[in-house]
Amino acid sequence: MNILILGSGGREHALAWAVMQNPKCDKLIVAPGNAGIAQIAECAALDIEDGAVVATFCEAQAIDFVIVGPEAPLAKGVADRLRDAGLLVFGPSEGAARLEASKSFTKEICDAAGAPTAAYGHFTDHAAAKAYVEAQGAPIVIKADGLAAGKGVIVAMTLSEAVEALDDMFGGAFGGAGAEVVVEEFMEGEEASFFVLCDGEVALPMGTAQDHKRVGEGDAGPNTGGMGAYSPAPVLTDAIANKALAEIVQPTLREMARRGTPYQGILYVGLMIKDDQPRLVEYNVRFGDPECQVLMMRLGAQAMDLMHAAADGRLAEAQVNWADDHAITVVMAADGYPGSYEKGSVIKGLDQCPEDSFHMVFHAGTKAVDGKTTAVGGRVLNVTARGASLQEARDRAYAMIDQIDWPQGFYRRDIGWRAL
Ligand code: AMP
Ligand code: GLY
Repeated sequence: MNILILGSGGREHALAWAVMQNPKCDKLIVAPGNAGIAQIAECAALDIEDGAVVATFCEAQAIDFVIVGPEAPLAKGVADRLRDAGLLVFGPSEGAARLEASKSFTKEICDAAGAPTAAYGHFTDHAAAKAYVEAQGAPIVIKADGLAAGKGVIVAMTLSEAVEALDDMFGGAFGGAGAEVVVEEFMEGEEASFFVLCDGEVALPMGTAQDHKRVGEGDAGPNTGGMGAYSPAPVLTDAIANKALAEIVQPTLREMARRGTPYQGILYVGLMIKDDQPRLVEYNVRFGDPECQVLMMRLGAQAMDLMHAAADGRLAEAQVNWADDHAITVVMAADGYPGSYEKGSVIKGLDQCPEDSFHMVFHAGTKAVDGKTTAVGGRVLNVTARGASLQEARDRAYAMIDQIDWPQGFYRRDIGWRAL
């Protein structure tokens, strides 16, 4: 099979690494890819948000199967354009991608599906939103409706923070994304991520993970795209996962199918768990980054068969073969991230890190310049390891970090603390 993966981060490096291990893969191209991906697959510079461009490329390269990594092409209908061109695609249609692209759409689906989630109000009028916030009081959560690169959610602990967030959003701080706002009840509990493969009808759990969103140790400082993750997430017990599947995921899939926009791809189910009850925080229509890295580390080659079965409507006959193992990934980021950071610093020592089914350094934001690996992103490396226990995986990952010589980078030393 000739396979194309769309994307350029650590998530796509991990997907490529898993796909390459599967003997059914004859050729792998990643567009646009990065320096780490280029070491294991062909990379192609393409505008991945332009469905016509990607479809033409697929035809020229005799691609059989496309895996879409990030949400932006999905929200722009790239999967639809490729399916129109006769390709098999892992990833939802534009209509189904609204589960991530519009917070108010997701709340409406939850209402129709009876899925447990935070109470909310949906506003396009600043004064009405402000009146609702004042009536509800703090803590309260303010969300820009559309895609905002992870920056559209303000968890306001005081009323003045909430009012300020509304002022920002209606003032255009998120461009078009802020013209519509969802105001939500603040949910307490522990967060975990549940990954479910969907083929439009059947839902097959693919694993659980927990992310570390804050930049600093002890979960301090501003939010980031994620500074590390581990799998499995012990808080998401089988009983809670089954509850989430029955009360949240399956009713959502039924409602999406009923509306003529069946969901196919990976559904990232962000949950808040309290007193053994899961409630939906958010859906994403793609793998998490860096959660994908730990899932791929644990699943290996079968990940490709599972994604192919989902795209092909064959999940009813698929199964996930779990090992009793644990994986962890530690993000190395450029000094200054998530604020402004320098680009172009040189990373040394990567050749000292082992690369096998227990150890991988996935690249998130790197570029090869004159044979040297340089940092070109905020999140730059995902140092990933697997072990019989989380402690073993963790020790392996931090031992790899000790080999990496990158003075302009930093990382959290406490990834996995909740579970250890
Ligand atoms: P989201 O982009 O919707 O995942 O929100 C980003 C983060 O904000 C989540 O991972 C949670 O930590 C937090 N958050 C979002 N909604 C709520 C809520 N209703 N109650 C508490 N925390 C929330
Ligand atoms: N790590 C969080 C996300 O991918 O949305």
